[in-house]
Amino acid sequence: MSSHDKLFIPGPVEVSDKTWAAFSRPMIGHRSDAFRELYRSIQPRLQELFSTAQPVFLSTSSAWGVMEGAIRNLVGKRVLNCMCGAFSDKWLDVSRRCGKQAEPLRVDWGKHIDPAMLDEKLATGEFDAVTLIHNETSTGVMNPLAELCAVAQNYQEVVLIVDTVSSFSAVPIAMDDLGIDVLLTGSQKALALPPGFALFSVSEKAFARAKQIPDRGYYFDFLEFKKNQESDMTPTTPSIAHIHALQSKLDEIFAEGLPARHARHRRTNAVVHDWVRSRGFEFFAEEPYRSVTLTCVGNNRGIDIAALVKRLRAKHHLVIDGGYGKIKGETFRLSNMGDETEESVAHLLACLDDCLQ
Ligand SMILES: Cc1ncc(COP(=O)(O)O)c(C=O)c1O
Repeated sequence: MSSHDKLFIPGPVEVSDKTWAAFSRPMIGHRSDAFRELYRSIQPRLQELFSTAQPVFLSTSSAWGVMEGAIRNLVGKRVLNCMCGAFSDKWLDVSRRCGKQAEPLRVDWGKHIDPAMLDEKLATGEFDAVTLIHNETSTGVMNPLAELCAVAQNYQEVVLIVDTVSSFSAVPIAMDDLGIDVLLTGSQKALALPPGFALFSVSEKAFARAKQIPDRGYYFDFLEFKKNQESDMTPTTPSIAHIHALQSKLDEIFAEGLPARHARHRRTNAVVHDWVRSRGFEFFAEEPYRSVTLTCVGNNRGIDIAALVKRLRAKHHLVIDGGYGKIKGETFRLSNMGDETEESVAHLLACLDDCLQ
């Protein structure tokens, strides 16, 4: 048993010793043959994970870099930001800070984005881009991705930008089949890599849009990523340590098998859900839109959440989250993403029981 406090917050999550070993491999030059070989070697498996024939790009930034980049590359007319929690709400602010015309499609926290509402907004013809967060980490809502994508696909002018930061690799997400124009994720959630790295893929439709948009900047210019990709490189010096760790993680993911990985997340999530019900707690997210990678537990029992979080850490060296943003103290969040198993999640829940007594 390692001596550190283990993270069960919904990202960053626990990073395994195996991943750390890969992260600390000897450094290589980012314009070397060794790097190009590394880059090439991971592409096919990344494309399989993204379910895309498009290249998958590696960004040395957290997810927000690519989220902001998507706005700067793709919004010409006006962006519709689907908002249902802290991260999706923030995207409206970020869009406006980029100088873009932006409008919210807002639902209460804990609710999902309704495809009919999306349809109504897009039918106005005012928008040429939509942002959507698949799994809203702050509320534990997993939006109905296929239904929302089906709506967006009816609007040729609209590019669909989807954040899968806390769902990627835990559930199947078929980028090309769903007609997603930008699919992005971060390293520190379901992939269980250290934070500070993001992955994304871009459709031909979105590349064509980017060509028409001025002031895309440099660091997150999608066309720069595309150009460098052709020689198996990134535009700037990347975090090579992350790419080594990603290569190792891909070995693990494909050794486990994608269906088995998805099933494991469903099982560990069900263990948490059973605990929530049997201990008389409520779910913050509405049924049937609950995330399978984390659970946002409503504090209907009126417990002292800050004290619970503190006690769990002091006594059992386990870390959970005491609620995010405006629902801090009203909720707590338990993550089952990354490498967690039924045993490790059961251990967390037993320790929670101990601290709740
Ligand atoms: C759904 C979602 N999107 C975006 C982000 C932002 O990620 P980062 O802080 O790594 O840029 C987070 C972080 O928790 C998230 O959960």
